[in-house]
Amino acid sequence: MSSSVIRKAVIPAAGLGTRFLPATKAVPKELLPIVDIPTIQYIVAEAVAAGVRDVILICARGKDSIVDHFDIAKELEAHLERTGKLELRDQMRAIAKMANVVTVRQQEPLGLGHAVLCAKDLVGDEPFAVMLGDDIIDAEVPATRQLTDCYRRTGMGTIALMEVPVAETGSYGIAAGTPVDDRTLRIDKLVEKPRKDPPSHLAVIGRYVLPPRVFEILEKQPPGVGGEIQLTDALAVLAREEGLMGYRFEGQRYDAGDRLGYLKANVAYALKRPDLAGPFRAWLSEVVK
Ligand code: UTP
Repeated sequence: MSSSVIRKAVIPAAGLGTRFLPATKAVPKELLPIVDIPTIQYIVAEAVAAGVRDVILICARGKDSIVDHFDIAKELEAHLERTGKLELRDQMRAIAKMANVVTVRQQEPLGLGHAVLCAKDLVGDEPFAVMLGDDIIDAEVPATRQLTDCYRRTGMGTIALMEVPVAETGSYGIAAGTPVDDRTLRIDKLVEKPRKDPPSHLAVIGRYVLPPRVFEILEKQPPGVGGEIQLTDALAVLAREEGLMGYRFEGQRYDAGDRLGYLKANVAYALKRPDLAGPFRAWLSEVVK
């Protein structure tokens, strides 16, 4: 098992995106762009860079346009061809060929754990990645690849961790455990949004590589914080019964599901774009003077 490649990624995208209203009233938050690329495309690209072939999108009513983004747009391609924009046409086709995208509906938003459970039959009996679209991670080695490498080394489910200020621990799942090396720890405690006495400052970020055993745990999982079926609670059981690793990934993470995080991601990614960086930097330095 430890040498197997992760071929499938589950991307839960059935949430209502209430932190981003009114933008998300009619537009899925996964399609909001960072510069000119929808956030979901960054996530799928990261999955592919980790060796994933099959992307399982957990969708909901009103979110089918996410799937359209990964389909072939015949009329658009024909128009781009007619107008001589062949490079752009090829870019549009490449998006449709990035991965094999399939969807399953979560009929009610009963929580992240429940959303992941909706992928059980499509994942089957193999380890898989879970990737949350709100977390955009800019890293030399894509974050999911860092986790699959750890999974291969240890043979254990691996979740991404990041140090956060103590004042923010109540907004995250918080993990603590025994250090194995600089970046890796074996988790022995996992608490969803602790109100007080967090066991550490290490927050669970939206990237996971999990064994299929987690589905059995989720099936029996009662609702937790907020009345939702929490993935963190199932992972706490997994840590106890099978072992679970935490990996402090290398890279810069942006919370693109939050207004300020989204703005930061747009600025950071625009400054990395050769076609925009020069004039954008000049304008920014004028504005912030
Ligand atoms: P969030 O609670 O951050 O996402 O869930 P949300 O509900 O979309 O956004 P806000 O907080 O109201 O602004 C984290 C991830 O889990 C998915 C969401 O789509 C998001 O990617 N999720 C959450 C589901 O797919 N189903 C659920 O029942 C809950």
